[in-house]
Amino acid sequence: MKVHSIHVCRECGTTSPRWVGRCPGCAAWNSLDEEKSLARPTVSGPATTVALHTVDTDHDQRFSTGVGELDRVLGGGLLAGSTTLLFGEPGVGKSTLALMSLRALARCATPVVLIGAEESAVQVAQRARRLGPIPEGLEVATTTSVATALALIEQRRPAVCVIDSISAMSDDGLSGVAGSVAQVRNAAERLCALAKSTSTALLLVGHVTKDGELAGPRTLEHLVDTVVRIEGDRYGTLRVVRAIKHRFGPTGEVGLLEMVNDGLRDVPETAMTRGQSAPDVSGVVFTVTNDGSRSFLVEVQALVASSSGSPRRVAHQVSSQRLSLMLAVLEARCDIDVSDADVFAATAGGLAATEPGVDLALALAVASAVQGFALSRALVAVGEVGLAGELRAVSGLTRRVREAQRLGATRALVPLAGDLDEVEGISVVRCATLAAAIAASRGT
Ligand code: TYD
Ligand code: MG
Repeated sequence: MKVHSIHVCRECGTTSPRWVGRCPGCAAWNSLDEEKSLARPTVSGPATTVALHTVDTDHDQRFSTGVGELDRVLGGGLLAGSTTLLFGEPGVGKSTLALMSLRALARCATPVVLIGAEESAVQVAQRARRLGPIPEGLEVATTTSVATALALIEQRRPAVCVIDSISAMSDDGLSGVAGSVAQVRNAAERLCALAKSTSTALLLVGHVTKDGELAGPRTLEHLVDTVVRIEGDRYGTLRVVRAIKHRFGPTGEVGLLEMVNDGLRDVPETAMTRGQSAPDVSGVVFTVTNDGSRSFLVEVQALVASSSGSPRRVAHQVSSQRLSLMLAVLEARCDIDVSDADVFAATAGGLAATEPGVDLALALAVASAVQGFALSRALVAVGEVGLAGELRAVSGLTRRVREAQRLGATRALVPLAGDLDEVEGISVVRCATLAAAIAASRGT
């Protein structure tokens, strides 16, 4: 095979035949690495067409993963012949989720194969036993070689195959270490193509680090059919899975899982996102955040403490940018000044709440912490706060208020603007400004 060299962007995977200082794809500077690449044979099929209406679509097989919340995100399960990328930070639970799926799948479609590139068969078996008895149809192989993996799929013809992880696979014919953009992309490309021709449902596991560095998801996004991200605080137990690309199903669908001793458990109800703080504590405000087609009740907490030295702002699971904005608006529009205090803001329960609809709860939590008044736990606050201190309409307000009512809230502070259907069992207070909302919240 002919060897030529290409330049690949570390950030977005764009390739260029020659080196350029600025990536033509994502405009990052100095992000191109030279990679020697083997010319890939092009795929050429017969030059014929078929009438579209005669193409059979009923026999597309979906394999349920046995994990309800993952199935929900996948639109029913893994599709035969398609490739799904499951990615997330180390320790978040990718291998566990992949193995749980294989265990369930082995009961209805055999064989299913796990190609482990990071752990030995013994380690995989240990983990699998932790999840329960190991079904017979589940086979494992350990290799980091793409060629071996391809041969294995060719031979065993598994209904479902997991590669854990694609970041550790490499091809001897290519320069670059395992995990480099060229290696990861080459491995994924060849495995995807084979999965398609053997009708194998392929699941690739990929890593990212905190800052999204490392060849991976972004370079693979356009290659694979489905991209599922698993996120969560690795020291907490809550995990969120979401499809960020889905060729054959819905995107934006969110699944909620909890890491327990024997694997990941579905969390279909959102009641657990209510934290355990004692009643009558200042700085605690409930809100409802919308994510995909779901609404989650979230407890937002703030703490304001006298600062020794330069004031600190610490945001955990809430947006630090929005926190800064809220502090500025509180100072300029509501006369609540925290410029020389330390401010900490977080959500309780482990679920992130970063969308603008959380603004009001965040600002109220700070106001409540500063002024030392506690808000009723039966109150929820929803709304985006503008720079003029006005409350702006948020998307899906009715859905949020309904969810709040379902989980026991009896009063909701919401923006004056925005459509809201009548929801029984909860009294809605429309507020034009943040200052008005603070006044209304004190009255509860
Ligand atoms: P893992 O699936 O290895 O993460 P990844 O493949 O994304 O790096 O999971 C890592 C963590 O999950 C590890 O700290 C142990 C924990 N864990 C449980 O809490 N319960 C379990 O049943 C298993 C298998 C793991
Ligand atoms: Mg792993």
